[in-house]
Amino acid sequence: MADEYATQWRRSMDDPEGFWLDAASAVTWTVPPSRAHDGDAEGRWFPDAALNMSDNALDRHVDAGRGENIALRYHSAMTGTHKAYTYRELRDRVAEVAGMLQSLGVGRGDRVLIYLPMTPEAVMAMLACARLGAIHSVVFGGFAASELAVRIADARPSVIVTASGGLEPGRAVEYLPIVRKALEAAPGIVGTVVVRDRAAVPGSAADMQDTVDGVDWLDWDDRVAQAQPAAPVPVVAHDPLYILYTSGTTGSPKGVVRDTGGYAVALAWAMRNIYDIGPGDTMFTASDVGWVVGHSFIVYGPLIAGGTTVLFEGKPVGTPDAGEFWRVVRDHGVKTMFTAPTALRAIRRVDPDLEELPEGALDGLETLFLAGERLDPETWHWANDGLGVPIVDHWWQTETGWPICAVPVGLERLETRAGSTALPMPGYDVRILDGSGRDITGTGPDGSSPEGNIALRLPLPPGTLTGIWGDAQRYRDGYLSAFPGFYATGDAGHIDPDGYVFVMGRTDDVINVAGHRLSTGSLEEVLTMHHAVAECAVIGIRDHLKGQRAAGFVTLKAHEHVDHDQLEAELVALVREHIGPVAAFRDVTILERLPKTRSGKILRKTMRQIVDGEPYRIPATIEDPAVLDALVETIGRAPQTVG
Ligand code: COA
Ligand code: AMP
Repeated sequence: MADEYATQWRRSMDDPEGFWLDAASAVTWTVPPSRAHDGDAEGRWFPDAALNMSDNALDRHVDAGRGENIALRYHSAMTGTHKAYTYRELRDRVAEVAGMLQSLGVGRGDRVLIYLPMTPEAVMAMLACARLGAIHSVVFGGFAASELAVRIADARPSVIVTASGGLEPGRAVEYLPIVRKALEAAPGIVGTVVVRDRAAVPGSAADMQDTVDGVDWLDWDDRVAQAQPAAPVPVVAHDPLYILYTSGTTGSPKGVVRDTGGYAVALAWAMRNIYDIGPGDTMFTASDVGWVVGHSFIVYGPLIAGGTTVLFEGKPVGTPDAGEFWRVVRDHGVKTMFTAPTALRAIRRVDPDLEELPEGALDGLETLFLAGERLDPETWHWANDGLGVPIVDHWWQTETGWPICAVPVGLERLETRAGSTALPMPGYDVRILDGSGRDITGTGPDGSSPEGNIALRLPLPPGTLTGIWGDAQRYRDGYLSAFPGFYATGDAGHIDPDGYVFVMGRTDDVINVAGHRLSTGSLEEVLTMHHAVAECAVIGIRDHLKGQRAAGFVTLKAHEHVDHDQLEAELVALVREHIGPVAAFRDVTILERLPKTRSGKILRKTMRQIVDGEPYRIPATIEDPAVLDALVETIGRAPQTVG
């Protein structure tokens, strides 16, 4: 229907109660909501309602006669395993895993940390927590022990569910030594670790027994086999479903808290209207359950919608080749696919002419959604021209849980525009604010909005974060205080005269490496741990494959005579040890001095411009321009000064 998008978005602004109560009818409640929102800017969605997320994702579909539909297709390019679970089978397995957790004392509001590779057990463990009203916190496998320890200390889980390990191309990643190290660094919190023994990776619960004081290591298969299936436990809509840690500006990650009811409603709306997925449809989201994309669009979204989700373990290239994504689409009848631009760049690099794309493989694919980082125009054109599938670049964050901007293809196939993440979704009032907080939305020529801070007018729609775990003030300080009445996204951009939003980059220290969000501040904290380092600056520089990569610049303490090659290797190793391989940190430059303003602020933006070979202006407040000259000389670029 023409203008369906505009009508729905307008209604979500003018009548949010009516809009979201209607949307709530797609969810099964044990106590249906009589109100959508409590009226407070930081308030609660569906304040008087109750539900269970696992019931919404599984049981209700079985009860509706769709028990034999496929819920989950596991496709491992690492082991060659392909396995399908019907809704009935997945519900039964999840009920058993929930029973296992219940037997360990896990109940409503308790935290469970999940550190699992991309195997069905990850999905089962998440849904099992949801079944009990317990709060899960999934940690991505590419993080090091110290990152795991920080999350244990903050979330205080009583149980960890893990596996012997994950599989990366050419190597097995043994999880148990990492878990053990993390437990030693955050002692006295976790009482039980449940271990799924994967034949492909060494290590088992039995090997770990008595290695950490007060921790019992149990075997997943043994315990699940003994468990009594658990029924879904209703929770109030505002109860947390999960905590998902993400990078902020400091070294301590932020635990984004997601509620249950608002999230269920938002995902039900998004699946139908943005992604066009319902019973009988298959969605393939090539991400990881450790990221928000995995939470929303591998696990909860497709299952709430009663569709089929594909859980893919592997990489876009090299497992075994650049045709694997396309074979997944073909073999599983995928209707909607979602991945990060980095994955397409990786495919393009090894298969620019798409010779590995099997004839007709994408015939059933209706839309390819991209998000996680800026989609560069070159990749957009390559994918658009080569794949023959409509591409939708859409924008969101761990904090929002579902898209802020998109083309809602289930509602209306609106045009896409290169470089734009399209239009605001219902409930999102996207505004552009200047540095002083003045609303400059629509003040440009033709009613466009000049570039500025992208902010969202409060209250945020359902499904978005309800706070930062254990630190209400950090939520206010980090997101709400910069522009009163608004949530600051941390992204900058502009809006064209037709309302299309262009997200251009971050306004803070967050960088995006291969679609993985990292904090330059936390990398700097690690570099300064080295005894020889006096000062450092980490900046995100352009990378043709990963979009951005972190580059570290360090100065040395006086009297520290170190071999530069050795120091560089030690710093790379230090980041890998403290943050993990996911940081993909390889670039270290040793400088005599860092460029600074007279007040001592490091000129990170100018440094980035120099390294990226962009034109730059020498700031009037610079302490010593010669330091920039030295940087230019060190990295061997011709200066591009302007002004
Ligand atoms: N467990 C352990 N290690 C992991 C890991 C995991 N789950 N995921 C990545 N790593 C490791 C990699 O093995 C690599 O280690 P190395 O330095 O020893 O080679 C390191 O972390 C960096 O990983 P990455 O940046 O992902 O590079 P890659 O070479 O492994 O893969 C791509 C490159 C492009 C194929 C990959 O980044 C990709 O698929 N990106 C898609 C982005 C994405 O899914 N984002 C999620 C949000 S949508
Ligand atoms: P994450 O919380 O890891 O999902 O990262 C969110 C951040 O990634 C956003 O704040 C943006 O900076 C960036 N991002 C996500 N999607 C897009 C997109 N489509 N275009 C540009 N940047 C994006």
